[in-house]
Amino acid sequence: MGRAKITVVGAGNVGATAAQRLAEKNCYDVALVDIVEGVPQGKALDLTQAGPICGYDGRVIGSNGYEETAGSSVAVITSGIPRKPGMSRDELLATNAKIVTGVVKELVKRSPNIVLVMVTNPLDVMTYVAHKVSGLPKQRVMGMAGVLDSARFRSFIAEALNVSAVDVQAMVLGGHGDTMVPLLKHTTVKGRPITECLPKEKLDALVKRTRDGGAEIVNHLKTGSAFYAPSASAVDMVEAILKDQKRVLPCAARCDGEYGINGLFVGVPVTLGRGGVEKVLEYDLTPEERSALTKSADAVKELCALVDRLSAA
Ligand code: NAI
Ligand code: 2OP
Repeated sequence: MGRAKITVVGAGNVGATAAQRLAEKNCYDVALVDIVEGVPQGKALDLTQAGPICGYDGRVIGSNGYEETAGSSVAVITSGIPRKPGMSRDELLATNAKIVTGVVKELVKRSPNIVLVMVTNPLDVMTYVAHKVSGLPKQRVMGMAGVLDSARFRSFIAEALNVSAVDVQAMVLGGHGDTMVPLLKHTTVKGRPITECLPKEKLDALVKRTRDGGAEIVNHLKTGSAFYAPSASAVDMVEAILKDQKRVLPCAARCDGEYGINGLFVGVPVTLGRGGVEKVLEYDLTPEERSALTKSADAVKELCALVDRLSAA
């Protein structure tokens, strides 16, 4: 049996960095697809030529079409336009829904058993669109946001406490946007509740910084959005799936009754393994967290209804 093939769609900042991280694992072949002629081919060739130095020898192929994606186990979908300063994720909705629809159809045609890891924003809605147009079982479609938002929260806490970020555990649920819900009861420093480590005002400030984490980077970069941590987050999910790790990670997964949410993809804790989202885990939330999650799901629901109207028009 050969190596598992992973397709990365979108050879921009997140996609190309994800392809690099995947190639460096030296376990996978990577197909990198973009609509812009020459970009995926050039980046794939460059990545291939880094192999002898970095010690990897998997295939990295770039293309504008989908033939090279046939037989992929997982696809990371980053194709779309990113946010500009002052632009909300939701404004990306109409353009990116069209892009995602086309891409997903092409992928599924050639890889009927694929697992889709969505990255394109607005994330929760694009995951909903991908599931709808793919015809795949809900377990095989998910969105990356919670891993990134949790990593941001973890890194801010680590900095505030002068401890290793690796020893900070956190779970950020909800939609990938201003309504995301960091679970403080489940945020610990090597098992010690965060509420014992930091005063409330400081913690509130870190929660706010996490909510604004994407915008903070957009405001620095001015011509694009974050990609190192986002690509690392997507690759973490890919590895959990392909290595059948049963990792417990926050992912945008389809809820059918869990947390009182129905028919929507929203950030919730799941176990990720070979089958994709193997289980949505129902944590015991405080009444405040529960109502914040409901509010967040309501915001996602509104956008899903809008995207449904747009696609029917
Ligand atoms: P980018 O602009 O660097 O790359 C996007 C790539 O998609 C471009 O190379 C573009 O040519 C390509 N593309 C556009 N239409 C396409 C099509 N029909 N088929 C194939 N490729 C196509 O953007 P970046 O920074 O890589 O971000 C990508 C997306 O990911 C954006 O929507 C961004 O908002 C989102 N994002 C989501 C995060 C999350 O937490 N879920 C985190 C970071 C980014
Ligand atoms: C982020 O959170 C842009 O959604 C992206 O960085």
